[in-house]
Amino acid sequence: ASTGLAATPPMGWNSWNHFAGKVTDADVRAAADALVASGMRDAGYVYVNIDDTWEGERDAQGVIHTNSKFPDMKALADYVHSKGLKLGIYSSPGPKTCAGYEGSYGHEAQDAKSYADWGIDYLKYDKCSFGDVIRKEAGNDHAKAFAMEKAAYKKMHDALAATGRPIVFSLCQYGDNDVWEWGASVGGNLWRTTGDINDSYQRMAEIGFGQLVQARYAGPGHWNDPDMLEIGNGGMTEEEYRQHMTLWVMLAAPLLAGNDLSKMSKETLALLTNKDVIAVDQDAAGIQGVRAWAQGPLEVWRKPLSGGAMAVALFNRSAKPQSITFDLKTVFLDENAKLRNLWTGENVVISGDKYVTTIPGHGAVLLKGTPAKIPEVACSSGPWNEHL
Ligand code: GLA
Repeated sequence: ASTGLAATPPMGWNSWNHFAGKVTDADVRAAADALVASGMRDAGYVYVNIDDTWEGERDAQGVIHTNSKFPDMKALADYVHSKGLKLGIYSSPGPKTCAGYEGSYGHEAQDAKSYADWGIDYLKYDKCSFGDVIRKEAGNDHAKAFAMEKAAYKKMHDALAATGRPIVFSLCQYGDNDVWEWGASVGGNLWRTTGDINDSYQRMAEIGFGQLVQARYAGPGHWNDPDMLEIGNGGMTEEEYRQHMTLWVMLAAPLLAGNDLSKMSKETLALLTNKDVIAVDQDAAGIQGVRAWAQGPLEVWRKPLSGGAMAVALFNRSAKPQSITFDLKTVFLDENAKLRNLWTGENVVISGDKYVTTIPGHGAVLLKGTPAKIPEVACSSGPWNEHL
């Protein structure tokens, strides 16, 4: 909510994708322990975010309290902070959360104060039942409905800001009303652009490849959020998860791991913690990548990086391996470019200004090329390749 927060896309872990309604204090402590022990914290994953179903309950004065699932939120925050991590929580602008627990409607200032008192560092604010409030009050008046939605998010932003504690503000309303156009104006540090992800290749790819219109709205302090990672949850192959991670770093997306960190394979950890790959996501310029070329199941995406470099992702959306002849000129590189494969760490040998390689089925290759001759129009708020 305050200036200077989320200068790069937030990184951490969130309980929902794996634990859903079963999350407890013990799970969150275990996740914090695993972030440290696995090296993920040191790779940048610092937010430990409790999603829906922490089951807040209000007392007669309307003050929110935890229950036996989270016996002492302040103690939990102290524990998480003692590990060099930050704690996130979840609520709704409506009377109820998506899972039916207490939302912040009418209690925004009280809840913001409770969060600040507990030591919360991140709030995911999920529309859900606020839709009913809007329908009841605005009916078919779209302008009124839209104004209500913006006001509800702004109200919580202002309540968080009034506490004086820096709290990252995550808007969750599934991209309604083209939130990327106004999310930053109501204090959002990130905003969901779509409905929920799930642990399937089809849903991951549908979201990941469909993030072009909003690309220009991303930047330091305010990011598009294509939802949390499913890497390691078991529904995709290793190459599919590599494509998932590659897409998310090209999108300058928040990197919120959604797996059980206490039971993680070597492969999952390697996908989540490759430092060169993460650096593409966390690049200081904060430019969201876009598609530069597509043919059949093959796509080439580019993401300008600070220092005159270009991240380039080669994607294969078919289930079979595919050969690609990639023309460096499509991404502002030429035959003088030095290319490195960030997943393998190897330098890539090119002939002329073409690179020929094979991409595994549903896989991705991520390259970094220098120097790139990037026209101004390809950075920040230029007209992106929206025709593609
Ligand atoms: C919505 C959100 C999810 C998750 C659930 C919790 O569906 O989009 O990310 O927070 O609610 O109920």
